[in-house]
Amino acid sequence: MTDNAAIQFEHVDYQADGLAILQNINDYFPKGKITALVGPSGAGKTTVFKLCNGLKSPTTGNILFNQQPVNTYEPVELRRRIGLALQDATMIQGTVRDNLALPLELQAKQLSNETAEQYMNLVGLKAEFLTRDVRDLSGGQRQKLSIARTLINQPEVLLLDEITSSLDRISRQDIERLILKINKELETTIIWITHNIEQAQAMGEHTWVMMDGRVVESGEIGLLDNPKNKEVERFIKGEVE
Ligand SMILES: Nc1ncnc2c1ncn2[C@@H]1O[C@H](COP(=O)(O)OP(=O)(O)O)[C@@H](O)[C@H]1O
Ligand SMILES: [Mg+2]
Repeated sequence: MTDNAAIQFEHVDYQADGLAILQNINDYFPKGKITALVGPSGAGKTTVFKLCNGLKSPTTGNILFNQQPVNTYEPVELRRRIGLALQDATMIQGTVRDNLALPLELQAKQLSNETAEQYMNLVGLKAEFLTRDVRDLSGGQRQKLSIARTLINQPEVLLLDEITSSLDRISRQDIERLILKINKELETTIIWITHNIEQAQAMGEHTWVMMDGRVVESGEIGLLDNPKNKEVERFIKGEVE
């Protein structure tokens, strides 16, 4: 067991329909750091996230959050403390405010104007957007709202699954700066799935490289400059999708 782990996998296998999706994952995500989780499409990255916040359970092995097995947390509590933001940033119909209020409403809590403005400000959206129809937001604005909506639960860990892959360069850089700020100011542990190696290298301090359901390399981000594994080297050079 590692003291500085926010989330630790202990010999985790995950099977679906008899297929091995994840095999013997025995590794951790360091607390307070940004980990870049990279690997080809189908490697099992999104499945790792679903296991982290309890959307799926391991077939064998354990997953610990703050040194406690995830299945000992109440599911709603676990998902509040381990927030997830996705590429498509799904919104409910209604205003920006309706969407921002959603996580609190699910806990029978109200969103105050002060808190709404605070989180809009944190992610760099104007407070006057609160009354707008969510359909009028650009892709980048939508992604910021999605992040704000996740942060309103004050998660200790933020799981980001390809959140910038459909954004233009300017919006992408904006989101990257925002995530760095959240990591620094709120000390949130960030785990960032990205297929953009440059982004992984620029943003990450720690990394997991996954292939075919396994973690093939992990450690400080610098290992991406000089991978030991030949398959990883080909992936980083862009020779594998
Ligand atoms: N419910 C499921 N049943 C069968 N196979 C699945 C299921 N969920 C995911 N998979 C498979 O597991 C593998 C890993 O998927 P995923 O975690 O989404 O990979 P990544 O996010 O790295 O692209 C893929 O081959 C995918 O087709
Ligand atoms: Mg995925």
